[in-house]
Amino acid sequence: MKPNLLITGASGFIGSHLIEEALLQGYKVFAAVRKSSKVVLPDHADVTVVQLDYYNDDHLVEQLMSLKQQYGRFEYVIHNAGITRAKNVADFNEVNNLLPQRLAQALVTSQNKPAKFILVSSMAAFGPGDKKSRTPISIHQPMSPISNYGKSKRAVSNYFLTQSPIPFILVYPTAVYGPRDRDFIEFVKLIKGGFEPYLGLYRQILSMVHVSDLTYAIVGLLEKGIVGNQYIVSDNKNYDKKELGAIIKGILHKKTIKLFIPVTPVLWIAGLTELIYKLVAPSKTPLLTKEKINEISAANWSCEAKEVWDALGKQPRYDLKSGMQQTIEWYRGNNLL
Ligand SMILES: NC(=O)c1ccc[n+]([C@@H]2O[C@H](COP(=O)([O-])OP(=O)(O)OC[C@H]3O[C@@H](n4cnc5c(N)ncnc54)[C@H](OP(=O)(O)O)[C@@H]3O)[C@@H](O)[C@H]2O)c1
Repeated sequence: MKPNLLITGASGFIGSHLIEEALLQGYKVFAAVRKSSKVVLPDHADVTVVQLDYYNDDHLVEQLMSLKQQYGRFEYVIHNAGITRAKNVADFNEVNNLLPQRLAQALVTSQNKPAKFILVSSMAAFGPGDKKSRTPISIHQPMSPISNYGKSKRAVSNYFLTQSPIPFILVYPTAVYGPRDRDFIEFVKLIKGGFEPYLGLYRQILSMVHVSDLTYAIVGLLEKGIVGNQYIVSDNKNYDKKELGAIIKGILHKKTIKLFIPVTPVLWIAGLTELIYKLVAPSKTPLLTKEKINEISAANWSCEAKEVWDALGKQPRYDLKSGMQQTIEWYRGNNLL
């Protein structure tokens, strides 16, 4: 019998890859989506799409009980649903902090307590590393997030670390790229157009992970006899920001004009955009907020991810060069470039 695995945020970028990896690793997948979601999921005998009402506790418990009756208990849960952009602190808190807590409680109440609940957090919960020493961010250091997004992820970590009702693992991915991403493609398009823009006039160190390696690690952790641990996930390397541009240029065979943009004027523009959104489209969130700019332009996003790969007894399959090559081939194959 294949183990039942519930994956939330199934319609999103990482969620869709989690489903593919879980199928490869032999799970029976329950792809949880919201009623409002646009669902394009693999038509596969081992994928069952389930709609969960995360925001009504009683209904959520009823739904989980009825799923248990129909299909049996969820042996495992990967809670991946989350938001990286929000209008305000309350929305971040609701989705990234309170929702996972409610889901964990509802799993217990519905007698669906899984053997393991993996929470997809974010390295933003730790905040950037030290600018001067450039020491990589470590899972053993205190969390000092600089954004409301990071703070909501820290809050949910504190909940699981101190009062989790279920066995858990907390996973903190660094920046994730790969097929179906919506952020890196914009940088690739700019380079294709001959421009190589960088935010900040200083040196910046980054870490990254290809989405297939992230999902390979997350799904791989399910059946390792580990609970209560926390892992940062990257491809185990750190890169100067200009390496990213150089790699993409090399793959596209492009010459570019490098643009180094100071952070301060971008912060002014973002502040103005936020004000305009508040006045004319209060229900929407601009793509770049002051907070997001401060976060993405931080000088040190290097990290130490050896522990997760040691725990898995595996190595990431992609470094930035091979991962970007695969991603750009996918963009091309899907007429996105
Ligand atoms: N992308 C990155 O670089 C990165 C890096 C570190 C951590 N993460 C974390 O990874 C997770 C997935 O991110 P992603 O990049 O795949 O984002 P994504 O494409 O936006 O997917 C997130 C999914 O979360 C669900 N969701 C969105 N708003 C929700 C709400 N209000 N209530 C409940 N569910 C909601 C949606 O799934 P349904 O519509 O199917 O319900 C959505 O597709 C998030 O927790 C994020 O914080 C991402």
